[in-house]
Amino acid sequence: MTRLTDDFATRAIHHGYDPQQNQGALTPPLHMTSTFVFETAEAGGEMFAGERQGHFYSRISNPTNDLLEQRIACLEGAEAGLALASGMGGITSTLWTLLSPGDELIIDKTLYGCTFAFMQHGLSKFGITVTPIDMTDPANLARAISENTRVVYFETPANPNMRLVDIAAVSAIAKTSGATVVVDNTYATPFLTRPLEHGADIVVHSATKYLGGHGDLVAGLVAGSAEMIQQIRLFGMKDMTGAVISPFNAMLVLRGIKTLALRMERHCQSAMTVAQMLEAHPAVREVHYPGLTSFAQHDLAKRQMDGFGGMIAFELEGGIAAGRAMMNALTMIGRAVSLGDAETLIQHPASMTHSTYSPEERAEHGISDGLIRLSIGLEGVEDILADLSSALPAPQTAAA
Ligand SMILES: Cc1ncc(COP(=O)(O)O)c(C=O)c1O
Repeated sequence: MTRLTDDFATRAIHHGYDPQQNQGALTPPLHMTSTFVFETAEAGGEMFAGERQGHFYSRISNPTNDLLEQRIACLEGAEAGLALASGMGGITSTLWTLLSPGDELIIDKTLYGCTFAFMQHGLSKFGITVTPIDMTDPANLARAISENTRVVYFETPANPNMRLVDIAAVSAIAKTSGATVVVDNTYATPFLTRPLEHGADIVVHSATKYLGGHGDLVAGLVAGSAEMIQQIRLFGMKDMTGAVISPFNAMLVLRGIKTLALRMERHCQSAMTVAQMLEAHPAVREVHYPGLTSFAQHDLAKRQMDGFGGMIAFELEGGIAAGRAMMNALTMIGRAVSLGDAETLIQHPASMTHSTYSPEERAEHGISDGLIRLSIGLEGVEDILADLSSALPAPQTAAA
């Protein structure tokens, strides 16, 4: 093959795979096998001892999963990757590996609901101190960090309120205490942000979302240094969670990633159009979209992201009652959790994805009861606009 450029889309399609090594198959073979036959008893023993390379059991590694791992590592600019059964499988396997009793975990206040529940209500039962802070101001981390801080964890943009965290500023502060910086890059994807380039140590993904891209699987990915990934593979995934991905799902994620660049461009373009429509609508109180000049962290978004993404959060003048009525009036847009699919999806975080937070926690963490989360899909943008416009309260009702 001729030498390829560094183009993201090209790497997303070709990296790590040579058809000529696979009987000419254009599409990577699917290795649906739980175990692998050793050439000799000695060879098996050597593999278990880590003295010989090779696959021996699919809870540890599998050739199809391996290709997906190489591909996410390439796209995130990491040494190595790890594919898991779900985003939560990736997050839990990573943190069980990094943390021990007595350690402190500092988290941003806004996290996906189950991530928050795992940390605040789960890890805290095992002798780990969990400290939520508002990381939109890195100075808060400088004040909170101590020699016990082992991990600093955040999402950017954060689910659901779209707040951004300055990865470079936060990573620089974390380094002063030797803490490991873990970033959930699900919303941005490596097409828009590569946290390791800004100083983070580990990236985690719900590949269920944009990477899979078609709403037909649940999967997770982790990327980082070869040493850290090996530890997460052999301890967090193999022994603590067992959250290994099925090779079939790994194949589907590989297929999804092939069109990631194309899809993200369209998600970004349509989301910008929808965000502008919502912002101009009299029934809409607030729109949170990093591409809007009214977005408080628009400058950071321009610095840290190569586009503004496909997610929008907004609130109506009539609060949650108006939000629910609007959601119920939609005819094309699906009332569903998850995001990053071809279909536009809408949900209400306070009663759905973020119901794991208590009402007090939500109020304190900036997740208002009226907030609506919208994942802009790949339909014609005119159809998305028309569905939303006809479901939003008419201007005269809003003004009344
Ligand atoms: C930002 C973010 N991280 C992690 C997860 C968990 O991923 P999964 O549902 O694949 O376990 C989600 C799921 O919605 C998410 O939105």
